[in-house]
Amino acid sequence: MSITTIEQKDLIKKIDELRKKKNAILLAHYYQRGEIQDIADVVGDSLELARKAQQTNADIIVFAGVRFMAETAKILNPEKKVLHPNPESGCPMADMATYEGVKKLKEQYPDAAVVAYVNTNADVKTLADVIVTSRNAVKVVKALPEDKIIFIPDQFLGSFIAKQVPEKEFILWKGFCPPHFNLSKEQLLQLKKQYPNAKIAVHPECNTDTVEIADFVGSTSQIIKYATTCDTDTVIIGTEVGLKHWLEKLNPNKNYVFPQTADYCGTVHCCDMKKNTLDKILSVLESEENEIILPEDIMEKAKKPLERMLQIV
Ligand code: 13P
Ligand code: SF4
Repeated sequence: MSITTIEQKDLIKKIDELRKKKNAILLAHYYQRGEIQDIADVVGDSLELARKAQQTNADIIVFAGVRFMAETAKILNPEKKVLHPNPESGCPMADMATYEGVKKLKEQYPDAAVVAYVNTNADVKTLADVIVTSRNAVKVVKALPEDKIIFIPDQFLGSFIAKQVPEKEFILWKGFCPPHFNLSKEQLLQLKKQYPNAKIAVHPECNTDTVEIADFVGSTSQIIKYATTCDTDTVIIGTEVGLKHWLEKLNPNKNYVFPQTADYCGTVHCCDMKKNTLDKILSVLESEENEIILPEDIMEKAKKPLERMLQIV
């Protein structure tokens, strides 16, 4: 349940007036703060948000997510103004794959297709043959003619795909998502003792040991669909805690258990996703600052693998 304070009500009223006046749309990822999810025009996983960004008629897209998501919206819509409420909201995993490093790997394996997770920075996307999200990765990789795949930057999503596409050879970049990596299989098994009838649903960014004991592995929106409709009352959720808000909104009759972890936030928590706030959204709508600006050539080159993904799925 979300509680809206008087200050928040005031902020929301001003955001509503401005987005109407400026023909702006607010897109939000499921890991955003609950109060942002509540007022967004669309809440979704990275694939749904990329599609929405491609289809919108709005003049301004305010993107409440991490930077690579806002960049993706801009690359797909170069003529639109894309505003990022907090430019400091980046993705540590995306930063683990550098342009120079990926270029070197590509030269080392010239017959391999470079498959880049959407969680990459725009310059790195220019080196990719195709982009994937956690929702469509297996399908996209299967559809490629190449037998050898360089997968960047998430080694765990890469391993998850490799298991399902055993006929191809994978070269994995050693990146990882810090919040998901920190979730151990023991933490989930401990909860399973407490709730023996519960099902376990996790994101493929979790480490391989954790993924192996799950009943279901999928993207954020796939986890939502599974958890709200599966046949158990309790579902143990192995992903970022922001998902709880949407799960409880969609189906409040179930018990969604988020594990306690050993990291400093005590749960699977993406600090970067939480850097966007209602007042920052209002501020960019007023000032139109923090616009995503990318060099023309990077946008052109990065658009090709993104569009290829959207054509496949
Ligand atoms: P989804 O594509 O499942 O929304 O995941 C994005 C992400 O950054 C997960 O950490
Ligand atoms: Fe990046 Fe992980 Fe945060 Fe997703 S949850 S944005 S992969 S750090």
